[in-house]
Amino acid sequence: MKSWAHNHIIDLASFSIDDYETVLELTNRFKQVPTSSSGKIPALQGKLLTTLFFEPSTRTRSSFELAAKRLSADVQSFSPTNSSLSKGETPLDTALTYISMGSNILIVRHSSTNVPAELANYIDKNGLKASILNGGDGLHSHPSQGLLDLFTLANFFNPMNPSTNDLKNKTITIVGDILHSRVARSNIWALTGCGANVILCGPLSILPDEFSEFVNSPPPGQKYDPIKNRGKVTIIRSLKDALEDTDAVMTLRIQKERMKQNLLSDFDSYHKNYGITHEKLKWCKKSIPILHPGPVNRGIEISSQIVEDQSISLIDKQVINGIPTRMALLYLLATMKNK
Ligand code: CP
Repeated sequence: MKSWAHNHIIDLASFSIDDYETVLELTNRFKQVPTSSSGKIPALQGKLLTTLFFEPSTRTRSSFELAAKRLSADVQSFSPTNSSLSKGETPLDTALTYISMGSNILIVRHSSTNVPAELANYIDKNGLKASILNGGDGLHSHPSQGLLDLFTLANFFNPMNPSTNDLKNKTITIVGDILHSRVARSNIWALTGCGANVILCGPLSILPDEFSEFVNSPPPGQKYDPIKNRGKVTIIRSLKDALEDTDAVMTLRIQKERMKQNLLSDFDSYHKNYGITHEKLKWCKKSIPILHPGPVNRGIEISSQIVEDQSISLIDKQVINGIPTRMALLYLLATMKNK
């Protein structure tokens, strides 16, 4: 395993090829840990994980909690509705309360971009011994989802020994509500970082032209891009053209709750033009796998038949692979740097 330099995981723009390789290798190893409750390993015995979710979640929170338990860590779960947030306590003071209780890693989800980064900066400036792992912030980043998707794809292309090489020169198409998707942003960094070319497909209202420049420079505050030979990002508006030569498709949830303006005229016509169905997959030159981060709007971005078609849908595998991927991230944060 290569060295690991991250005390926090906020986004994937700062990941090097060695970082991706380390995560894939460790995830593949943790995949062998039995899934029964007795099949734990003592790697994080004595460590405390807190899931600090200010926004709803089914997959991410439960997957992190299960991952921590598989590594024999203790787990604390914060619920905003029954918390002192209602008395005016800030996210920072909430996080500091859990750090005072001994939390070693806090998984933070918040509707505002930068809340996890601000907590991480506070921890570093004040010499506190805790790590922040971004569980999804606003439209910005969802690194554990990007990494579990990366593993799922690499594992599809190379079931025995998935690595970054398995993504090199592949074409992965991401379809749908890119504008509102932190999952898409993390996937674009991860996939291009491993040398895949990414096609973005969707109507202008939810896929602005600027996305073709997305990885051309590092995000504000980051001095340089650690990846020398990133894959390219291309926008193709026609789903038929986008599907023709692709090696995999990831379709995204239409995020109705984040659509302040009426960006789509109606969901039926969106499904007709961009919904992934068996009919449209006939446009592909070969059989390809379909991914979706969940939760799914059946009949809008994807048909029910595709969701349930185990011969091409990797949705179930994404959920399953989420656990060893998150075990890998927790293990790296808890054991590899300044610990
Ligand atoms: N994919 C994802 O983030 O799902 P949850 O919102 O259920 O965590």
